[in-house]
Amino acid sequence: MLMVRTAQRDDLEDILQIYNQGIEDRIATLEEDIKNHAYIENWFANHVDRYAVIVAEEDGIIVGWASLNPYSQRCAYAGVADLSVYIRRTARGKGVGSALLLRLQEVALQKGFHKIVLFTFPFNQAGQGLYRKMGYREVGVFKNQGKLDGQFIDVMAMEKLL
Ligand SMILES: CC(C)(COP(=O)(O)OP(=O)(O)OC[C@H]1O[C@@H](n2cnc3c(N)ncnc32)[C@H](O)[C@@H]1OP(=O)(O)O)[C@@H](O)C(=O)NCCC(=O)NCCS
Repeated sequence: MLMVRTAQRDDLEDILQIYNQGIEDRIATLEEDIKNHAYIENWFANHVDRYAVIVAEEDGIIVGWASLNPYSQRCAYAGVADLSVYIRRTARGKGVGSALLLRLQEVALQKGFHKIVLFTFPFNQAGQGLYRKMGYREVGVFKNQGKLDGQFIDVMAMEKLL
């Protein structure tokens, strides 16, 4: 049975492994280099208070994670969070991302956010499917916004009012 819960420090190896799969697959992030344990420890240490990290666990195995990330330091944007979501390769397309986003949105409301924004690649079909299913609206596409393996990449901004 799929269970979604708050992430613990003990989950970090799984979170790291799943994130690195997303980096290797070249569909999720402009990060190119595989991350190490020190990186994820530091990332987790910076996800405190309102910036929750949750994991999905099935039969004792972590199959995905999602987080609320800072969007802007400016007070006027204190109600806006950015999100990340990564599912283990073998567990994609089975509803785990949907379950994580549902829970993350509840947590975001509890933490006082009124909106979630995200930045995704227009060619990430699974990501597009997940976000549109969950009610995220396309804000627009930044042309040649970043570089991945030396090639310019378009980045789509999406948002959902909670
Ligand atoms: C993108 C990702 C998070 C989606 O999570 P998931 O658990 O695979 O998604 P779900 O199974 O909950 O599917 C949600 C919806 O997305 C769509 N979808 C899922 N996989 C799809 C695919 N391969 N192609 C097209 N649409 C797809 C479907 O509409 C689905 O809804 P439905 O099954 O009710 O029709 C996951 O595939 C993943 O981790 N990919 C690599 C990392 C990544 O891209 N992260 C997002 C960065 S922006």
